[in-house]
Amino acid sequence: MSHPEVQIIPANAVSWDMLAHILSRGYADYPEPASVTSLQLRQMVAAWDIDLSGSAVALREGEGLVGIGLLALRGRRAWISGLAVVPEWRHRGVGRAILNRLIHEARERDAAHAILEVLIDNEPAIALYKSTGFRIRRELLTWERHPEEGPLPVPPLRAERSAVTFLVQDFDAWHPEPPRWQRELRSLRPFLKSLDGWALREGGQVAAYALTFERGDELDLVDVGIAPWTTARAVARPLLQSLQLLHMDYLLTLRYLPAGDPLSPVLAALGFHVRRRQYEMRLELAPQRAGGA
Ligand SMILES: CC(C)(COP(=O)(O)OP(=O)(O)OC[C@H]1O[C@@H](n2cnc3c(N)ncnc32)[C@H](O)[C@@H]1OP(=O)(O)O)[C@@H](O)C(=O)NCCC(=O)NCCS
Repeated sequence: MSHPEVQIIPANAVSWDMLAHILSRGYADYPEPASVTSLQLRQMVAAWDIDLSGSAVALREGEGLVGIGLLALRGRRAWISGLAVVPEWRHRGVGRAILNRLIHEARERDAAHAILEVLIDNEPAIALYKSTGFRIRRELLTWERHPEEGPLPVPPLRAERSAVTFLVQDFDAWHPEPPRWQRELRSLRPFLKSLDGWALREGGQVAAYALTFERGDELDLVDVGIAPWTTARAVARPLLQSLQLLHMDYLLTLRYLPAGDPLSPVLAALGFHVRRRQYEMRLELAPQRAGGA
C-alpha cells in the first residue's frame, strides 16, 4: 500500500462500537446508506456467519479506523461484504489492501470461492473487483410495486396465514435459483419469528408461500417459495395478487432477487418495477497445497 502508516488488522481486535461506526461512515455517501448500531452489527455477524477474525479493518495511527471489510464463511464458500473506506482516504490503495487481506484469509480457511454483491453503477468498486479477478456471475434485482399502480384482480385462490417454520421445511427444493447469501435459509433463521407467513393452497397442499415483514407502509417480501411440482406462473401470481389486495396502500418490495428466478416474469406482469440492480461477482480461489509448505 502507498501509505505504510495505515495498518490492516483483524476486525476482532477492535470494539463492536468501532466496527459499527466505521461501517456507517464508509457507507454514508452510498446509494443505500448502511447506518448500523453495534447491536444490529452483532445480529448481522451471527446471522450471516461473518468471521471477525478473518474480517479486516484499516487503522491509521492517531486517526482511528479508515476502512473495513467483512468475511463470512459457510462450508467452503466465502462471502465478502461491508467493504468501505472513509471518503477522505479513498484512492490511496486502502480498499485494495483490505480486499486482498480478506481473500488471503478466505484461502487460509480453505474456501473454494468468494462471492460478493455490488450495485451495477458502482464503478470504483467494480473496477477493484475485476482487477482482483472477480467475474460477474449473475444479476440481482430489487423489485417494487407502488400502491398507485392500483389493485390487482381478485385471484381464484387466496393466500392464508401460515406458520413460518412449516413453510420453510423444504427450502432448497422450493428455490430452484439459489437465493443470495442474505436470503439463504441460514441467514433467515434468526429472524423467522419476526416474519409473517402466507400460504397459497391448491387441493389442500401448499403450492406457494411468502414470508413478509411490515416496515411502515412497506411490505417487504422477504422470501417467496414455489413448490417443485408446480410453476411460478401458475401459483406465484395468485399469491402476490392476494397479498397486494390485503395490503392495498403498501409499497411492495422484493430485494435483490436473482434475475433468473422464475418469479421475475410474474413480478413484471403484475406491475412491479426494477428499482436497483446488483451484480453478484465470484472469485475462484486456488486449492490449498497439500502439506501446506
Ligand atoms: C469501493 C471502495 C471500497 C474502494 O476503496 P479505495 O480505497 O478508494 O480503493 P483503492 O484506492 O484501493 O483502489 C483500488 C482500485 O479500485 C478502483 N478504483 C478506486 N477508485 C476508483 C474510481 N473513482 N474510479 C474508478 N476506479 C476506481 C481502481 O481499480 C483502483 O485500482 P488502481 O488504483 O490500481 O487503479 C471505496 O470507493 C468505497 O468505500 N466506496 C463506498 C462504499 C462502497 O461502494 N463499497 C463497495 C460496496 S460493494
